[in-house]
Amino acid sequence: MAANRPSLLIRPCFQQDLETVQLIYAHHVLSSTGSFELEPPSLDEMTARWSHVVAQGWPWVVASPTTDLTRVLGFAYAKPYHERPAYAGTFEISVYTAPTSMRQGAGALMVNEVLHMLKGDGAREAIALIGDSANAASIGLHKKLGFVQAGTLTNVGEKFGRLLDVVIMQRSLVRR
Ligand SMILES: CC(C)(COP(=O)(O)OP(=O)(O)OC[C@H]1O[C@@H](n2cnc3c(N)ncnc32)[C@H](O)[C@@H]1OP(=O)(O)O)[C@@H](O)C(=O)NCCC(=O)NCCS
Repeated sequence: MAANRPSLLIRPCFQQDLETVQLIYAHHVLSSTGSFELEPPSLDEMTARWSHVVAQGWPWVVASPTTDLTRVLGFAYAKPYHERPAYAGTFEISVYTAPTSMRQGAGALMVNEVLHMLKGDGAREAIALIGDSANAASIGLHKKLGFVQAGTLTNVGEKFGRLLDVVIMQRSLVRR
């Protein structure tokens, strides 16, 4: 309920945020099917990924409570959906919220901000490749933000002894 939700600021991710970003991502790699990675990337690897994204001018944001802007409750970023040049203008979005901060609005606010930044940069389409067709949280979040299901890749992943689908969701950045 909105009244119980903390007031959040969505802001750029800085290098000093990456320790928490790495911990949040490691939690999801180890416990959920939203990421198809099996081993959590190290802080050095997360730093390399972040550096690559921000050096290109692509969005990488975090959510902080307005009462303490040094805390990080989640992160979201975008990178090109595919490296081949004809895909320019189509970006893939990733979003992860800390387990203790879920369902408090952080995910939606972060993705909204990433969409806003992409739109400002002239991007055309946003894609989410959602690990696991049972991932109600991610499917629900993207649906809420106007993404529509573009298809499902069946049984393309395997994690925790389960075969996993990838749900493809897409939102135009130019038609609204
Ligand atoms: C998906 C994820 C980022 C959502 O983050 P969040 O901060 O909890 O999301 P929000 O609180 O902003 O929720 C936004 C909307 O998403 C939907 N939603 C969120 N969690 C949900 C759940 N558990 N079940 C169903 N719908 C859910 C709701 O529509 C919600 O709006 P509402 O609370 O007003 O009903 C978070 O659950 C997460 O980190 N999951 C694991 C990693 C993952 O799968 N990431 C996506 C990879 S693409």
